[in-house]
Amino acid sequence: MNSAINKCIKYEISVPSKEEMFMFPVPKLCSIERKLSRLRCSDEERQRLMASHAPFGELFTDHMVVAEYTKAEGWHDFAVTALEPFSCHPATSVFHYGQAIFEGLKAYSQPDGSLAAFRVEKNAERFIASAQRMAMPPLPKEMFLASIQALVETDRKWVPAGFGESLYLRPFMIARESLLGTRPSSVYTFSVIACPVGNYFPNGLSPVSVWVSTDYVRAVRGGTGEAKCAGNYAASFLAQQQAREQGCDQVVWLDAIELKAIEEMGGMNLYFVFSENGKKKVVTPAPSGALLKGVTRDTLLTLAGDCGYHVEERRIELDEWRDGCANGRISEVFACGTAAVITPVGRVKSARGEFAINDGKSGEVTMLLREKLLRIQHGLDADPYSWRVPLVGVGD
Ligand code: COI
Repeated sequence: MNSAINKCIKYEISVPSKEEMFMFPVPKLCSIERKLSRLRCSDEERQRLMASHAPFGELFTDHMVVAEYTKAEGWHDFAVTALEPFSCHPATSVFHYGQAIFEGLKAYSQPDGSLAAFRVEKNAERFIASAQRMAMPPLPKEMFLASIQALVETDRKWVPAGFGESLYLRPFMIARESLLGTRPSSVYTFSVIACPVGNYFPNGLSPVSVWVSTDYVRAVRGGTGEAKCAGNYAASFLAQQQAREQGCDQVVWLDAIELKAIEEMGGMNLYFVFSENGKKKVVTPAPSGALLKGVTRDTLLTLAGDCGYHVEERRIELDEWRDGCANGRISEVFACGTAAVITPVGRVKSARGEFAINDGKSGEVTMLLREKLLRIQHGLDADPYSWRVPLVGVGD
């Protein structure tokens, strides 16, 4: 209901007055024009919408970034405008051949009232890699970063201040040529939209249950598994539905060749906590050519080491997972990603039966790493690796 009101307001196209238009300079590359939405929410309306704690990804801010690419002009016409629908010819190539990539990152409120993103350069780099894999034109890093900054600055009042809350930013690129021939489009749109978010999973931090799929695979080496492309997610929904039918929250993917090695959970990476001789070791599946290399996954490789845990990237098979839980070697398993941060996994079900991890409860390593990560993201702990990227200063 709330988001419907919000959408209805935002779909109006506004004609900016002179005072409402100004430019974000982006040195040497481009500038981003800003046309404020005439119909942006009032403070009261926005506060009411944010207090409704809409489910993840259902409440949107007032504005979006758009830019166009053509062969002749390259990337151009960057603008922050009112959030409004795209108008597309039915032959627009993204509808038919699926050239679509995206990213997910967050802006966090800091103790002094400023706003910062987390490792946004990693997202910009992966966006380039995803574009290359899908034969799309890479968006230069500076333009990616400037677009994020321009949108967050414009919609800064939509960034929630609570611990674990943030503004989720969704940069994406789609093929826009009206074309039924099977070749890459020559026209593209880049856009960024944003949602204030809290917990990703409706049950908050309760451990999730997982169904290990042997009917479907997410990706195979040489395929598109390492790219954050829309098709990977479309292809995952049927297995996710099957997980639900099995009474589980999420699907776990095995390698596509042998159906033995653990790869990912839904759209998130997995970590396994081993206890050996009183020492904890955290292990995550090694990149296989099919795995999406998550920014949170990468961050935890460093953070877990700093917390005193031994860290390993290696192959882990379902049999090792099952045996490890039975003999106590594996004490915790968690999933990680930008949207859900860190989420404990409590129960595993497959065609061969089911087992629990840590009696279905979340564990101390999982919760410690989650807290540590969030404290850095929210500016409450030191940031020795300069992961925080200032976006909007105090009073800007
Ligand atoms: C993320 O963690 O950002 C993801 O990729 C999940 C998203 C598809 C909601």
